[in-house]
Amino acid sequence: MPELVKIPVEELQLGMTVARCDRQGVYFPFYGKPLNDGQAIDTLRKAGVSYVYIKASVSRAGEEEIDEVLEEISDEHSSAVQDAVKPGYFPVEEAPTLKEISRAKQLHIDAGKKTKSMLEDVRMGKTVDTSAAMDMVSDLVMFSLKSPHIFSCMTRLKDFDDYTYVHSLNVSILAISIGRRLGKSPEELDRLGLAGLLHDAGKMRIPEKILNKPGKLDAREFEYMKKHPELGYDIVKKSGRNVSEDVLVSILQHHEKADGTGYPGGLYGRQISSFAKIVSIADVYDAITSDRVYNQRRSPSEALKLIFSGSGTHFDKTLVKFFINIMGIYPVGTLTLLDSDELAVVFKQEGEDIMRPKVIVVTDKEGKQIDPVIFDLKENDIKGKPRKKIVSALNPREHNIDTNRIIDGFAARYSAV
Ligand SMILES: [Fe+2]
Repeated sequence: MPELVKIPVEELQLGMTVARCDRQGVYFPFYGKPLNDGQAIDTLRKAGVSYVYIKASVSRAGEEEIDEVLEEISDEHSSAVQDAVKPGYFPVEEAPTLKEISRAKQLHIDAGKKTKSMLEDVRMGKTVDTSAAMDMVSDLVMFSLKSPHIFSCMTRLKDFDDYTYVHSLNVSILAISIGRRLGKSPEELDRLGLAGLLHDAGKMRIPEKILNKPGKLDAREFEYMKKHPELGYDIVKKSGRNVSEDVLVSILQHHEKADGTGYPGGLYGRQISSFAKIVSIADVYDAITSDRVYNQRRSPSEALKLIFSGSGTHFDKTLVKFFINIMGIYPVGTLTLLDSDELAVVFKQEGEDIMRPKVIVVTDKEGKQIDPVIFDLKENDIKGKPRKKIVSALNPREHNIDTNRIIDGFAARYSAV
């Protein structure tokens, strides 16, 4: 299923296959065939064409690999990945209501404050208030079961500047989302959420000059930093008798890697606990998609590509497939270019066809912002072909589009109707 990618004519290279150009009604005989001389490029330029759509297999090997995985996922009906996904976890949902959005925001703010004070206590040398942490995580789990569609988007809320605390909370939210889709029980979700929340508790005991050092750590500093999983294990173990062993183990193992190159134990695949594997993927995904002091955040699609590139080495292979499956290649909030030349923000992932989410179209074909309109990419034309398709993911900053504001604004309007 090759996708089309829009590129300027100047970037065309021999071997690429042009499917169409940005001018409607214009046809060239070399459409659909790999370019084997420069004449076609000249012809396009002379015809005043600025952009062409090329078949993605030539230009984006990485994404092609993801396509392959997706096809594999949808074909392997008996695979572990499919077995893990219970049909009941793909409900057809209505758009979130204003009430749900404000509840999610309030919950995120409250949980953020609690996370901050909890981790600050650890920095001051105190123990973790594990009962408070468990109550907070239970609230998150309850909300995730009641409003699953908005819960998984909560990590996009940026109410705090302090990365460490928001990151801990977001890893908890993501771990609960993954666990829920894996069919874990509410009690298991409580433990998974707690493991996510406290996974970096040990960092609170690392000197701030190392923790917040601008630039790369030297070998000695890195060795010190690598102690944080064990420190976290000890801190949480001493904090409360009622913290279960699987929570403690996932704190200890969240930097272990499938190929045995992680730390502190250098454990391999099956030696790593399933909770730790989930926390590890949630940790990396949130880190990549967040602004950190010396790293600008990447888009959700880029983060998925990076995670995919670590499949089988850094991360558990099956879990990566599953994670891509549940997040969608174009997670909620991704700005995308449609083959109609319009820009659209991914609004909802529903059903199993993760390449065809519901989107909010925000510009016309000329790139002019319009009143947002919802469009379901599962709609087909009379020939049974998709009416519109996603061509690629874009960086919202480059297009000056605030995707969070659009989703909130649209949900507000939608629920008011
Ligand atoms: Fe960590």
